[in-house]
Amino acid sequence: AQVPLAPTPPMGWSSWNKFADKIDDKTIRAMADAMVATGLRDAGYVYVNIDDGWQGTRGPDGQIRPNASFPDMKALADYVHSKGLKLGIYSSPGPRTCAGFEGSYGHVRQDAQTFADWGVDYLKYDLCSGEYFYADADTVKRSYAEMGAALQATGRPFVYSLCEYGRFDVGSWGREVGGHLWRTTGDITDDYATMARIGFEKNGKPGHTGPNGFNDPDMLELGNGGMSDAEYTTHMTLWALSAAPLLMGHDLRLTPPAILRLLENREVIAVDQDAKGVQGKAVRKDGALEIWAKPLADGAVALALFNRGETNAKIEARAADAGFGAIRSARDLWRGQAVGADALTFDVPAHGAVMLRVEGK
Ligand code: GLA
Repeated sequence: AQVPLAPTPPMGWSSWNKFADKIDDKTIRAMADAMVATGLRDAGYVYVNIDDGWQGTRGPDGQIRPNASFPDMKALADYVHSKGLKLGIYSSPGPRTCAGFEGSYGHVRQDAQTFADWGVDYLKYDLCSGEYFYADADTVKRSYAEMGAALQATGRPFVYSLCEYGRFDVGSWGREVGGHLWRTTGDITDDYATMARIGFEKNGKPGHTGPNGFNDPDMLELGNGGMSDAEYTTHMTLWALSAAPLLMGHDLRLTPPAILRLLENREVIAVDQDAKGVQGKAVRKDGALEIWAKPLADGAVALALFNRGETNAKIEARAADAGFGAIRSARDLWRGQAVGADALTFDVPAHGAVMLRVEGK
């Protein structure tokens, strides 16, 4: 039997949010090094993903070649693997990628085989191209199924990331075409308004997420500097409560200590990576205040108290929010400490969040 590739949401890093198409072999190696040096690998982040911008032209045999910034993809994959990490790459079903590079159109099986020969472990397949972007749902679905089958035909395990922005209810067919994660939205940017709109409202239908297939509200912006620490706390809390893939998107060499603490908090990661694979959702709303719950495999429940407002607020966590008659014990996951079951009212800063793990009586 095949080992499932994504029993829990994939974790790693991708080049796009920080570097866009200005990427090269040296930077990717430096990110692999930094993933180890920061402890992020040991916290669970293992994929190092090259996004758009690595492609050159096709050879006379039709084989895709990397551009001059990537002299030897196989050697790069070997290097990444030698660090205990895995390598991801990017392509499109159409003739051109979003940034105008060569797509896989007409070369789907050949590209899948090339990626397998290089030793790639993960493919993000991005719709953004020519007639495909404007195609109907069936054509889009067929193009994703075609690459899914081509990846499987190589015999090499690939995590398969679908990126059609949630245009065609991808969550309802993502698994069928071999996908492990699928984008539910357009691109995130490094500001609170965009992050919050995606995380609170465009993170996909919870029913579509579960072990081996996850809604993907896009990559993380922590560390890129456009949000306050309270806002980045909300970003990380929302993604963990949603069982979202955790793909970092900043320069790992320059991770501020406060951001590293958010990214490496083991108890928060455990909520995201919980084996039950449930996408949490809002259970109570009071104006700008939202209480979210995510049931966990061991019977505990993760709760998040979000303050979407512009001024600090007090928010109370209630047993009923977790579906319990009474709370037996509670932990504040960002503070890393137990809190009294009778003291579950918290000061939550504007745009901030508190995250709890509670057990019922
Ligand atoms: C789209 C995707 C992004 C990124 C770029 C690359 O915009 O949504 O995540 O991959 O293409 O061009």
